[in-house]
Amino acid sequence: MSKEFTSNLELQRWVQETAALCQPDRIHWCDGSQAEYDALCDQMVQSGTFTRLNPVKRPNSFLARSDISDVARVEDRTFICSRSKADAGPTNNWHEPKSMKTKLQGLFSGSMRGRTMYVIPFCMGPIGSPISHIGVELSDSPYVVVNMRIMTRMGKAVLEALGDNDFVHCLHSVGAPLEAGQKDGTWACNVDKYIVHFPEERSIWSFGSGYGGNALLGKKCFALRIASVLAREQNWLAEHMLILGVKDPNGEKTFVAAAFPSACGKTNFAMLIPPKPFTDDGWEISTVGDDIAWIKPDTTGQLRAINPEAGFFGVAPGTNYESNPNAMKSILENTIFTNVALTDDGDVWWEGMTPTPPTHLIDWTGQDWTPDCGRKAAHPNSRFTAPISQCPVIDPAYNDPAGVPISAFIFGGRRSSVVPLVYQSFNWTYGVYAAATMGSETTAAAIGATGAVRRDPFAMLPFCGYHMGDYFNHWVQLGRELPNPPRIFNVNWFRKDEHGKFLWQGFGENMRVLKWIVERARGHATSVESVLGWVPRFEDMDWRGLEISKTQFEQLISVDREAWQQEIASHDELFVKLYDRLPKEFIFIRELMLSALWRSPEKSELAHE
Ligand code: GTP
Ligand code: SPV
Ligand code: MN
Repeated sequence: MSKEFTSNLELQRWVQETAALCQPDRIHWCDGSQAEYDALCDQMVQSGTFTRLNPVKRPNSFLARSDISDVARVEDRTFICSRSKADAGPTNNWHEPKSMKTKLQGLFSGSMRGRTMYVIPFCMGPIGSPISHIGVELSDSPYVVVNMRIMTRMGKAVLEALGDNDFVHCLHSVGAPLEAGQKDGTWACNVDKYIVHFPEERSIWSFGSGYGGNALLGKKCFALRIASVLAREQNWLAEHMLILGVKDPNGEKTFVAAAFPSACGKTNFAMLIPPKPFTDDGWEISTVGDDIAWIKPDTTGQLRAINPEAGFFGVAPGTNYESNPNAMKSILENTIFTNVALTDDGDVWWEGMTPTPPTHLIDWTGQDWTPDCGRKAAHPNSRFTAPISQCPVIDPAYNDPAGVPISAFIFGGRRSSVVPLVYQSFNWTYGVYAAATMGSETTAAAIGATGAVRRDPFAMLPFCGYHMGDYFNHWVQLGRELPNPPRIFNVNWFRKDEHGKFLWQGFGENMRVLKWIVERARGHATSVESVLGWVPRFEDMDWRGLEISKTQFEQLISVDREAWQQEIASHDELFVKLYDRLPKEFIFIRELMLSALWRSPEKSELAHE
């Protein structure tokens, strides 16, 4: 039966084997067409999973409300099942692969009863690009199908490109079989969740969740966890990074890639609108991607990046026409909203969308909501799924199979104190050290308490598919082989004053920092040396149109000696865990930084002019 869809024998075999295990009522091979998408959306409107939004206000758009137990990635239920425990490393949950497979086979046995199994062929990256990779997801969730159609290149064209080649096997079930005559809920899932990766086999088994990165397997599971393993073997990088282009008034364009942890501003930064004096001059920002970058050295040793995704799965709360107009315009139509609130006129709303909330809403749990009810209307990790092609500032090269050249890497955590607005690492190895020791306050993107600082190396803590120490070594080594490696910067948009108020306005204003970064990467802008790296002086930055005093700037850029002594001491927690595989360079950099701090003034921008 599979033969009419593909000549790929392994795919035919695997579909048959999985159907025998999961026992779906039907198998549907996705062609990726608009008609198929529309039919599935209609079907979900019928079943109650989707609410069609007002076609005048939000054409072709839908709202889904998930189960309250299924709202974000489940890091403690995410496993890397490499053959050896040491290869997963201490920052991943490891489980012995054979017994995990047996466990999963038990869970998946009959798990699709009463449902349709969808065969979803997808390509991460432009079809035909040497940087792209193909996967096939088997899923019993129509929600997953329609999201995958937005987030990836999906359907018939992918099967054609696949031919008889190998692909990443991605198996997904919501884990809620329908026994004879049983009525389906509006969001099927299972209390028991398993997000499991077999890196040597290049396969993914995801059970029990229908939400985001748990279920859209092309995203974190494939494009980061499995791809990071491939990247290490094949000498490239799979990163939790946005990619953007900066065009200066002379038309010269520079691309940068930036890693911020989940819900720490990648989408905003990827499509920022510069302040007026900059746009008047002719500065332009264009978006290549907002979440994941695959980066390979070309034959000349220049790093080139593609965005493996085709859509945005963006955080809704806080998004508005002030903070991110381009995101607002990207979601005007053809968008799937999950766990936001519904307005009385059939549109969507979330905290921060408008200064004053509507007087009545249906909240993300389906209950009546009024501004005084004391609950949030949208879940803090509510999201929109929208085609990247709808972004008003999409970069023309986003579909280019060759990717875009990367001149700088930026790393940024969410730190209310300690970390300055921006600094440039002295060299590649210092940069890798800084990225490896990045800390960030946790957010609603993963289940668990929020607000605590944790080390999130390269914003990859939940996404690296192998030993984090090996990952650091891979970075150190890769840079060593590049004739002119990208410059490395650290930023922090989230520093607060003693009253808890943000010291930096952020959003579009981040352009000022980005301009300095791009000019540094081009070898132009001036700076001074600090303990951490090169930092701009007040006069090195373009402040036109912003009222900021030198004192305010110094507060933003300052390096507090005692705080940094503690910060560096706390790097040890991570280093001790990774001790046997830590790059030796890290030990010396740590020592150098400590001794430089020791000699530095107690609190200053540390200018050794
Ligand atoms: P994932 O999709 O989870 O990987 O995250 P992301 O990094 O794309 O997250 P996103 O850009 O959606 O981050 C949203 C959160 O960051 C919201 O709480 C925003 O208000 C906040 N944010 C983004 N940019 C800035 C900024 O420049 N300053 C401040 N203070 N907050 C920001
Ligand atoms: C993240 O949490 O970093 C995301 C959302 O980008 S999810 O796809 O759910 O992982
Ligand atoms: Mn992300």
